[in-house]
Amino acid sequence: MNIILLGPPGAGKGTQARKLVDERGMIQLSTGDMLREARSSGTEMGKRVAEVMDRGDLVTDEIVIGLIEEKLAGEQGGGFIFDGFPRTLAQADALEALLDKLGQKLDAVIEMRVDDEALVARITGRFTCGNCGEVYHDALKPTAEPGKCDVCGSTDMKRRADDNEESLRQRLMEYYKKTSPLIGYYYAKGTLSRVDGLAEIDEVSDAVRAALAKA
Ligand code: AP5
Repeated sequence: MNIILLGPPGAGKGTQARKLVDERGMIQLSTGDMLREARSSGTEMGKRVAEVMDRGDLVTDEIVIGLIEEKLAGEQGGGFIFDGFPRTLAQADALEALLDKLGQKLDAVIEMRVDDEALVARITGRFTCGNCGEVYHDALKPTAEPGKCDVCGSTDMKRRADDNEESLRQRLMEYYKKTSPLIGYYYAKGTLSRVDGLAEIDEVSDAVRAALAKA
């Protein structure tokens, strides 16, 4: 089964994708994570990507489609969770063509609906384990022991450079201008389901499972 988690920054895409990986052995393909890896490589391309991401703008379709194409070619089985991709209609068309080439299709698109006001609090309180990638929040999902990852025990906690109010406003602008048209696009294709992303994390997971069971 191949699925897309669609929603604005902070909707909980990464949080739910990690749960699906654990529960179903699916493969999470997060273009945000791939781009953060590229920026930390220190190459010219990585430096350009870093500037764009820190501003809250979208990286070019060409770069992200290239990254996804490379990953799809190298991974097998389990089904893919596209997290943060596609973000434009051009990316959606490219994804369909890439899956088609592999003899696969998209089974479900889950829109995570949230209130914009909740996103500021979510984004500014987020931190992630630098070792295993588990996502936390200062108030909404703290670690059991301060500064120590519940999953792997690492104390290497990271905050993202674009997790500030100014970048978030621009990320939201990009979402509404370029990504939200995908909601209508996938509705028309008959693959769209909606879940309430404002519910508790476990309740959102239940709603995602229910949506996938119907797909
Ligand atoms: P990306 O890394 O994809 O970021 P994003 O879409 O802005 O999404 P986030 O990772 O911020 O949020 P999320 O929905 O995963 O929320 P999370 O689960 O962490 O992209 C970053 C940048 O890369 C873009 O701005 C762009 O520049 C570039 N980029 C990436 N993909 C691209 C593409 N395809 N094309 C072009 N450019 C691209 O949750 C957030 C917080 O809330 C956490 O602290 C979590 O613990 C908490 N939380 C989650 N769910 C709940 C809940 N139900 N209740 C309470 N708290 C919750």
